[in-house]
Amino acid sequence: MNLFLQRAAAEFPETVIHFCPLSSERSEEVGRVVPDEPSIRKAHPEDSPYLLRCAQNHFRCLAWGLSLSLLIGANGRAAPERELPAPGYVTGRKTRDGTGKYYFDREIAHYMTHEGAPWLDRPEREVEERPDLVLQALQLKPGDVAADIGCGTGYFSWRMAQAVGAQGRVYGVEIQQEMLDLLAGKMKERAVTNVVGVLGTIEDPKLPQSVDLVLMVDVYHEFSHPAEMMAAICRRLKPGGRVVFIEYRGEDPAVPIKPLHKMTEAQLKKEMSVLPLTHVVTVETLPRQHLVIFQKTEGSPQRDKDTKTNR
Ligand SMILES: C[S@@+](CC[C@H](N)C(=O)[O-])C[C@H]1O[C@@H](n2cnc3c(N)ncnc32)[C@H](O)[C@@H]1O
Repeated sequence: MNLFLQRAAAEFPETVIHFCPLSSERSEEVGRVVPDEPSIRKAHPEDSPYLLRCAQNHFRCLAWGLSLSLLIGANGRAAPERELPAPGYVTGRKTRDGTGKYYFDREIAHYMTHEGAPWLDRPEREVEERPDLVLQALQLKPGDVAADIGCGTGYFSWRMAQAVGAQGRVYGVEIQQEMLDLLAGKMKERAVTNVVGVLGTIEDPKLPQSVDLVLMVDVYHEFSHPAEMMAAICRRLKPGGRVVFIEYRGEDPAVPIKPLHKMTEAQLKKEMSVLPLTHVVTVETLPRQHLVIFQKTEGSPQRDKDTKTNR
């Protein structure tokens, strides 16, 4: 195991997975704003150790960003294994829906357990999330290889599978085997054969090959290890490959989702700034979410040997 992971595990023992029954909380929260929930920024402004932690966090994130570049490699060559500082995570005040673990001053949310799966297949999603517009914006081509990370029951996986066609493939990645079982059942019902379930870890999606596009719908804010996950995703992106985030708009108080389960575009851009990713466009046509597209920065190093051989 890399030294930085050992150090991260030692330094952040609080990152043990919480099996919080988000399903009921999530279904309660839909349809209403949660007015009393303090935002992260307002949570403890008078707390001077908090300000100190923020400053420390910024420096650690910068150091981590630099280390990520070293990890991913320079001038197209594989970087040697080396000791890296622990990612820029900071332990802070734990709010009701959060983990108390902060990344770029954002408290990481608990992830949704498989008990919430019915919420993912609610019919209202067609109107609330407009999957037709999402697929239009993804611009997938027949033959593309894509990944739906944190795919849940596959609400987007089968739609992506239609777009990439029989010659293409969609990897539906999950950390919960129960979700993968549900995904397999749904794909069978729909007679979809080009969606492949993958059991990833909280630090690595374990993508079996390089991909043209990675989609994360309502997932990124739940990653317990966003730095490690994104580094692993970048390594598995083909040159020019795209990473697409769909998150509830954190800028819009009218979006009836708890603050920790929303993200602003600015926050996403800040967190991606340490990675070999360039912001391409933010699509604002969805009713409650934004769709933020990044592309692998041209000339950025690629460590995986299969980049040229695999689709
Ligand atoms: C709110 S659900 C969204 C599911 C799906 N994207 C959708 O829109 O229907 C978030 C999912 O992300 C998964 N998840 C959280 N962290 C993950 C990680 N590091 N890798 C893969 N999946 C993850 C959770 O298990 C959960 O099923």
